[in-house]
Amino acid sequence: MTVTTRELLLSRIRDVADYPIPGVTFKDITPLLADPEAFTALTGALAELCVRHGATKIVGLEARGFILAAPVAVTAKLGFVPVRKAGKLPGATLSQAYELEYGTAEIEVHAEDLLPGDRVMVIDDVLATGGTAEASLELIRRAGADVAGVAVLMELGFLGGRARLEPALAGAPLEAL
Ligand code: PRP
Repeated sequence: MTVTTRELLLSRIRDVADYPIPGVTFKDITPLLADPEAFTALTGALAELCVRHGATKIVGLEARGFILAAPVAVTAKLGFVPVRKAGKLPGATLSQAYELEYGTAEIEVHAEDLLPGDRVMVIDDVLATGGTAEASLELIRRAGADVAGVAVLMELGFLGGRARLEPALAGAPLEAL
């Protein structure tokens, strides 16, 4: 990705102060999604990473991860697999619970969508604490598939997600544009 593309993407991410709670600055990607040049550049850059790391399948994390992962899968000509919040998938699922700052959350995937032999790239908008991505890697491994890597638009480095994810990545790359 060129410096110009990086600057374009950065310029389309809006900081929203005190959202969703006082003291938090929310990184809003809707201006980027609304700009066809920026959205296309982002999709292209993420698809290139998927190809470079030999992915054969794309996992997107609900909900904002879906917005990025679906066009990435189409661009890279790979299948798209949704990892959803618990209770949304109708078929037989694998579930993974993970710790939040207060309480726990649970994500699920259709068991038949991830198979031994798959090399799966996880796509999301933001890596924050790393809990969601870590749980998705657990699901992929429990399904018997391999992890090609994790690729996100933004990494909030001060939250330590990269360190948390390291054991689950087991040498696979974490790419943050
Ligand atoms: C956000 C974001 C990532 C996750 C990152 O999703 O899109 O999926 O949090 O946080 P973590 O690294 O601390 O796990 P969230 O479920 O909050 O919102 P969304 O449904 O709008 O994507």
